[in-house]
Amino acid sequence: MTNATSTTADWDPAAYARHARFVADYGKSLMDWLSPQPGEQILDLGCGDGVLTEDLVATGVNVIGVDASPRQIEAARRRGLRALVVDGHELAFDGEFDAVFSNAALHWMQRPDEVLAGVARALKPGGRFVGEFGGEGNVISIVSAMKNALQRRGINFASVNPWYYPSVDEYRGKLERAGFRVDEIILFPRPTPLPGDITGWLETFAPRFTVGMSPTERTEMFDEIADELRPRLFRDEKWIVDYVRLRFRAVLA
Ligand code: BEZ
Repeated sequence: MTNATSTTADWDPAAYARHARFVADYGKSLMDWLSPQPGEQILDLGCGDGVLTEDLVATGVNVIGVDASPRQIEAARRRGLRALVVDGHELAFDGEFDAVFSNAALHWMQRPDEVLAGVARALKPGGRFVGEFGGEGNVISIVSAMKNALQRRGINFASVNPWYYPSVDEYRGKLERAGFRVDEIILFPRPTPLPGDITGWLETFAPRFTVGMSPTERTEMFDEIADELRPRLFRDEKWIVDYVRLRFRAVLA
């Protein structure tokens, strides 16, 4: 549910829980697409602190969670889960799983073909891959304000962007080329009220954009971004982020 890539800084589980618990809450409906059957072997790719992994376990399946963040994996293990520090680009499982499940993690993985090859290898023949992550247009207001703020500092957005938000057509093609039959794939908006303010969100999810800046420079930039975003994303005393999700269910053909 967080990242499964080595290109992102390690996560602070407490900050993540404070600013992003809704990520797991929304992920519960993705479990219906997985339709887990008791006794199945499931890989939770980008399991984060394991909140949703616990829900999977409660359905009677056997789950291994993987995430690139050692601190999130520690938090998952404290819940009693089987969890490993693994970069999503380097999955080394071989025909072990009935299904791979991934919520809100694939947008952190910048080399999707490598990820998909690893997922296909990890599955048994006929295994399912069910996932949801940020799709084309995700957090577009934030991306735009971030681009502007970086440009004013002479920094190119693309050179520091850790996010991958593909279109339906792009990701369907990648799934098919990796050997999957795509049963369903949709892109839909999910305007999401934040539990706190946009600065907390930026501090939790966007530190990569400020690598090399001092704490003061970083605060200044995030304040500028918040000012630009306020007219678009602050309504009725709440920040509402313009999330767009890409959700799919695919079967290893
Ligand atoms: C997302 O879940 O779409 C997301 C999370 C963190 C940063 C950007 C997007």
